[in-house]
Amino acid sequence: MMQKEYREMGEKYMMRNFSRDLLITRGKGARVWDDNGNEYIDCVAGIAVCSTGHCHPRVSEAICRQANELIHISNLFYIPGQAELAKRISEKAGLKGGRVFFSNSGTEAVEAAIKLARVRTGKKRFIAFKSGFHGRTCGALSLTYKEAYRLPFTPLPYECEFIEYGDIEGLKAAIDGTIAAVITEPVQGEAGVIIPPEGFLEEVRRICTENDALLIIDEVQTGFGRTGKWFGFQHTNIQPDIITMAKGIASGFPMGGIVAREGLEFLPGEHGGTFNGGPLACAAAHATLDVLEGIIDDIERRGKRFRDGLAAHNPRQRGLMIGITLGDRCAAVKDYCEKHGVLVNCTSGNLRLIPPLVITDVDIDQAIRVINEALDS
Ligand SMILES: Cc1ncc(COP(=O)(O)O)c(C=O)c1O
Repeated sequence: MMQKEYREMGEKYMMRNFSRDLLITRGKGARVWDDNGNEYIDCVAGIAVCSTGHCHPRVSEAICRQANELIHISNLFYIPGQAELAKRISEKAGLKGGRVFFSNSGTEAVEAAIKLARVRTGKKRFIAFKSGFHGRTCGALSLTYKEAYRLPFTPLPYECEFIEYGDIEGLKAAIDGTIAAVITEPVQGEAGVIIPPEGFLEEVRRICTENDALLIIDEVQTGFGRTGKWFGFQHTNIQPDIITMAKGIASGFPMGGIVAREGLEFLPGEHGGTFNGGPLACAAAHATLDVLEGIIDDIERRGKRFRDGLAAHNPRQRGLMIGITLGDRCAAVKDYCEKHGVLVNCTSGNLRLIPPLVITDVDIDQAIRVINEALDS
């Protein structure tokens, strides 16, 4: 079925909450193809998800192998690969005594972090940052800034005050002993790759500790090598209380989770999920980590290559997260790039490039050429 008929069927039988155009049917590395056989360099990666590229053989083989052994069993039983994966992730996160709870998505990871903060501190109020994005379920939505997402669903379950990202004085003025947790992204992704001022996370950490509030670092987008380190907070020397993760963790197989430091964990019955940390997700995540371990040290160089190539347009860059402020021009730039074989993403008036972490220099250079043409036209 071709794009036109496919679109008509979608319009008729699916809720029309997503706006989309292309039908992508195949992918390999950082390249994808649509139903007409047109080839694209993918600088979106399923919204920062396809960390090892499309259909990396190690990931595909691991999923297929596991699919022939055991697809699902539930958390009523120990799950093959789950504890080993928790160990690997906990060691990479480096939180003292860190324990993992797995989920199936980023918003569920944030939901778990909120519930953990709520139940262990006994407090209900949160602080988050303006333009921050933490997900769409009602708990996570309480901490998500954008009114268009939040207001139709008020009242939301948690009281949350929003502070300007980077505003330490604002945080000091808002926080007191009633705050369960402060949540922040180490680099704001959905806002368009906004990098906080030097020393920001360190100050947030200090203020949280002084006020007996937990610090949740939302690594859903920044985790698993996206910023050039395993987690975005590792560009500093802070220790969060909880980190959330998802997106790049399993190369596109749905998975998420949290890591919480020693002394912070759910007691039996406090939280759960039928599918969480299932065998297929664990297999995909192990293979993803195997691949990422081989390239993590080169991610910042690849990101800098992008930054240098786009230098005339003032890009913001950390690892393979690149943002350029464009305002109203964003949609036209995206369309030009798409027509010339490069997929890019527009978010909050910014061009956001979040390609597979395995992207090659050849693909980076070709993408830069097209994006520069689009920006100069
Ligand atoms: C920082 C951050 N947190 C949470 C989420 C929600 O994740 P998901 O879309 O997997 O529910 C996102 C998604 O973009 C995100 O960027």
